[in-house]
Amino acid sequence: MFSNRGKDLLGLENLDKKDLQVILDSVEPFKSLFTRSVKKAPTLIGKTVVTLFYEPSTRTRTSFEIAAKRLSADVVNIAVSTSSVVKGESLIDTGKTLEAMKADYIIIRHYLSGAPDMLARNLNASVINAGDGFHEHPTQGLLDLYTVYEKKKKFEGLKVLLVGDILHSRVAKSNIWALTKMGAEVSVVGPPTLIPRNIEELGVKVFYNLDEAIKKVDVVNILRIQLERQQENLFPSVHEYVELYQLTNEKLMRAKSDVLIMHPGPMNRGIEISSDVADSQNAVINEQVTNGIAVRMAVLYLLKKSGNSGNVSSN
Ligand code: CP
Repeated sequence: MFSNRGKDLLGLENLDKKDLQVILDSVEPFKSLFTRSVKKAPTLIGKTVVTLFYEPSTRTRTSFEIAAKRLSADVVNIAVSTSSVVKGESLIDTGKTLEAMKADYIIIRHYLSGAPDMLARNLNASVINAGDGFHEHPTQGLLDLYTVYEKKKKFEGLKVLLVGDILHSRVAKSNIWALTKMGAEVSVVGPPTLIPRNIEELGVKVFYNLDEAIKKVDVVNILRIQLERQQENLFPSVHEYVELYQLTNEKLMRAKSDVLIMHPGPMNRGIEISSDVADSQNAVINEQVTNGIAVRMAVLYLLKKSGNSGNVSSN
């Protein structure tokens, strides 16, 4: 279901509406575990999950670790900065080394788009993309999708606005693939230099003016300005960005009164979002984090169920 080989989750582009619905339907039983005193299931007992992050992370890496532990897997976290990667070991050799230790799942975050795909092609273990370059962040896309559905109970006709640095955002790409397939009306808004050319071809509307874009939307998903990925200055100043694109209570007046405010994190309070908005009743930013664990449990479970030819067996 997840990739041509059925063993990996590399992106949401290749999933269809039915696949996405199966994932959404699988989340609830895992989320219901969270209210029990023992939050564990034996689903992945005897399996080994390795996280291999070439970029910093708080939410995704921790969320995968908690998800895998709640499914009773053994979890190993590799700190790339203290691994043999710094001695020049290639990605594939690193992956093969982990596979030789019988890793069943490798969760990878990498600064290069396509790195998880390359790893997946060379290994029998299940590879899950935890964010690659500007390409995709599929489990973030899925947890955003689940949170929207949990709160709004539908996708068809729902107006979702993605705000900010669309160009550098793998979260935006995964959200666009998933939400448009489920029938939502997706728009993007940001400075022209931070909107990818031809993005309309993905079925989204493009705006450059936040006041115009935000009118009557049901969901606003605010993206972090990724200054670390910019090779050149793509807008005149942070001050100007704040003036034009920061989500404030004043800007929100134009959205629906029950608008859902989302942010994948990490947030830059006072830049893309005001503190008032981040802490408002309409914000579901912490709920997104909680849902991320249940969504990742569902993904680990479904990859096991989809039957892998390699280390992950379906028993
Ligand atoms: N949303 C997200 O990917 O956060 P982290 O970088 O903390 O994992």
